[in-house]
Amino acid sequence: MSAVTSQTLQPPLDVARIRADFPILHQEIYGKPLVYLDNGATTQKPQSVIDAVSHYYAADNSNVHRGVHALSERATADYEGARAKVRDFIHAASEREIVFTRGTTEAINLVAHSYLGPRLQAGDEILISHMEHHSNIVPWQLLCERSGAELKVVPISDAGEIVYEEFERLLSPERTKLVAVGHVSNALGTINPIEQIIRAAHAHDIPVLIDGAQAVAHLPVDVQALGADFYAFSGHKLFGPTGIGVLYAREALLDVMPPYQGGGDMIRTVSFSGSTWNELPYKFEAGTPNIAGAVGLGAAIDYVNSLDLALVQAYEHDLLDYATQQVSAIGDIRLVGTAQRKAGILSFVMENAHPHDIGTIVDHEGVAIRAGHHCAMPVMERFGVPATARASLACYNTRDDIDALVRALQRVHELFG
Ligand code: ALA
Repeated sequence: MSAVTSQTLQPPLDVARIRADFPILHQEIYGKPLVYLDNGATTQKPQSVIDAVSHYYAADNSNVHRGVHALSERATADYEGARAKVRDFIHAASEREIVFTRGTTEAINLVAHSYLGPRLQAGDEILISHMEHHSNIVPWQLLCERSGAELKVVPISDAGEIVYEEFERLLSPERTKLVAVGHVSNALGTINPIEQIIRAAHAHDIPVLIDGAQAVAHLPVDVQALGADFYAFSGHKLFGPTGIGVLYAREALLDVMPPYQGGGDMIRTVSFSGSTWNELPYKFEAGTPNIAGAVGLGAAIDYVNSLDLALVQAYEHDLLDYATQQVSAIGDIRLVGTAQRKAGILSFVMENAHPHDIGTIVDHEGVAIRAGHHCAMPVMERFGVPATARASLACYNTRDDIDALVRALQRVHELFG
């Protein structure tokens, strides 16, 4: 008998069908077919997400948790339905643990303000890595300035991996009050060993926040299996709308955290002698929320579930290998970020061309990439470059897209080489 497993019988990802779901991909830029390779900045939206947002405004729009009329009940059901989809998607224990925010940045600021802020004292430490995005650096710097605590930074290797022995050395059972690391680096593509990091921190009862912005569209996430205390992500990097994101936090932590912002919906009672707070998660959702955004995020999660993230991960891994081989074969290119475990992000520099020139020239060939510091200036400093050019993949990209990128980069090489 042949040893055929159910895995080998799985159908491959139907990328042609996926591409057909994304209307924006089917256009020309400067007379060339669009090749969209800036998914780290934001992903494109399938028709089902566009339709869900449009249907919400056309048919159900009202405010949530407030009205007794039919539209308000529908809007509330739509909004809370989206929360249930997020819970299932990241395998949280309860909807009480899913707080809607504007995005990853607001989710991290919420934790800084409501969890760590009230607990932090001079002499305490917050531990992050050298590859963090600014949104997982600056909120902690602001807290340190206010409290006299210190931000400790785990170094990264030349390949762009966390130096684990240094992480262990810097993790202080007495002083570290929070570990905050990215699941996947937006500038380097490194997939961090967050399971190992969480286990090590928990051995000393130190909570861990994971910035999942670059992970959720590319690999399956199970917050309970990971044991994450906080997990933050944005809708727009998961094929959903901008302006909506999620803070997952363990209920026991949310329970003891004070509100982040004050206003409507986050209260139970208000009087001039004092106010009391609504139950979870509403205690952290002041004011009218981004209802249409949540509806769109729910539709995006339905879409991703229809694909199977494990297949997406395998497909993007193969595409990244192909892109890495093809792009590194071009004369004067140096890759920045060569970790063993990577998601679909390819950062590089060219000997003779500035990343902004690379970005502009390939754009004229129809290829959209990002050039700059990627909101990760310490990473640029670590690798001694002012900026990189970055191609970032999603499940609708193909080898043809990579071939178009390579042709466009060869053009840069001809002009500057
Ligand atoms: N953080 C986003 C990026 O990496 C905007 O491009």
